[in-house]
Amino acid sequence: MLVSGTGSILQALMDACADPGYGARIVAVGADRTGTGGVARAEAAGIPTFVRRLKDSPERFAWDRMLTSECAAFEPDLVIMAGFLKLVGADFLRQFDGRIVNTHPALLPSFPGLHSVRDALRHGVKVTGCSVILVDAGVDSGPILAQESVPVLDTDDEATLHERIKVAERTLVVDTVGRMVRDGWSVQERRARIGASAGRARW
Ligand code: GAR
Repeated sequence: MLVSGTGSILQALMDACADPGYGARIVAVGADRTGTGGVARAEAAGIPTFVRRLKDSPERFAWDRMLTSECAAFEPDLVIMAGFLKLVGADFLRQFDGRIVNTHPALLPSFPGLHSVRDALRHGVKVTGCSVILVDAGVDSGPILAQESVPVLDTDDEATLHERIKVAERTLVVDTVGRMVRDGWSVQERRARIGASAGRARW
C-alpha cells in the first residue's frame, strides 16, 4: 500500500485483513514523505515500511524507478494507493499494469486532482462522494471499480465534508478490495467488473 497522510483508510484495510476470510494481506506500506501516520500505523502493526521521497531523486523518472523496485521487491498482487498524493510514472505503470487501485474523494470523472473536496464545495454540488478506480497514465482517469455518494450539507466546510467522505471511503475501499481479491475482476474498454459478472478473473 502507498500512503502520504494519516492512513485511516490503510487502518481500515489493516483491520479487515485481520480476518483470514477477508482474503488479503498487506505485505508492505510505502510513503513519499517522512512522518506519515500511515507508516506509523504500519510499523506499530509490524508491517514492513519504506519511504521514497521525490526530492531525494535527481529526476522524477529516477524516483519512479526506485519506487517501482521497492514495491516490486514485496511481490504484491495489488498496489493500493490510499491517500497517496503523487502521480506514478511509466515504469511503475508497466510493472503493475492493471493492478494499481486508487481511492479518490469525489465522484469521478467530476473533480479529479488534489483539491477535489474543495472544488466540489466551490462548485456547489449537493451530492459528492468517493471513487475507487484502477490507475492509468492520466490523473484520476482510470476505469471506475466502485463509487459511493455522500450528501453535501449547507453547513459543510472542506474539513467536515472530507471527513464524512472518508467514512464512506473506508467502507468502500475495504469492500471493493475484498471483492477483487476473492472474486477477481476484469476491464472491458472503460467498464470494470468485479465478481461473477467479471468473466475472466484477474485473480
Ligand atoms: C482520502 O480521502 C483519499 O481519497 C485522499 O486522501 C485521503 C486519505 O485519507 N486521496 C486523494 O485526495 C488523492 N487524490 P487517509 O490518509 O486518512 O487514509
